[in-house]
Amino acid sequence: MIIEVASELETKELGKKIAVGLKGGEVFQLVGDVGAGKTTFVKGLAAGLGVDDDVQSPSFTISRMYDARDGLQLAHYDFYRLNDPGIMANELEEMMNDPTTITVIEWADIVEGVLPEGHYTLRFSAPTETTRHIEVSDTLEISE
Ligand SMILES: Nc1ncnc2c1ncn2[C@@H]1O[C@H](COP(=O)(O)OP(=O)(O)O)[C@@H](O)[C@H]1O
Ligand SMILES: [Mg+2]
Repeated sequence: MIIEVASELETKELGKKIAVGLKGGEVFQLVGDVGAGKTTFVKGLAAGLGVDDDVQSPSFTISRMYDARDGLQLAHYDFYRLNDPGIMANELEEMMNDPTTITVIEWADIVEGVLPEGHYTLRFSAPTETTRHIEVSDTLEISE
């Protein structure tokens, strides 16, 4: 299913709606060019998960962790600058296998082989400066 959003706010709202149904243990792969809205989506997802901290792009730090509602945590990765997946492999594996962690990865190509079978892929594209198309798998629950 392709969802069209007309503003940054709508992208965040989509993240919030998806956050409602999350139970922990989910893994999201976000695909799309620089500026497509991946990190913006994660900001909404985090807000919907009750994260109080300001979500910043992990493109320099590679990884950022946030405490979320109900004892959950959000692990946010950006592997754009990562040349050697080896240095992140253990931590990533641990997070993806933790039932209290929701793992979101931007630029996951370098680790694609280790993503769990049930992971969700969201594909972002930017037809205009302010609209975005976000393709989500039909199995993903989006609350009203
Ligand atoms: N509908 C939209 N959804 C998300 N971001 C948008 C939208 N319209 C404009 N933008 C802008 O596009 C940029 C998206 O940046 P970001 O979320 O960091 O992208 P990415 O993480 O994919 O590189 C931001 O500057 C944001 O203000
Ligand atoms: Mg980003």
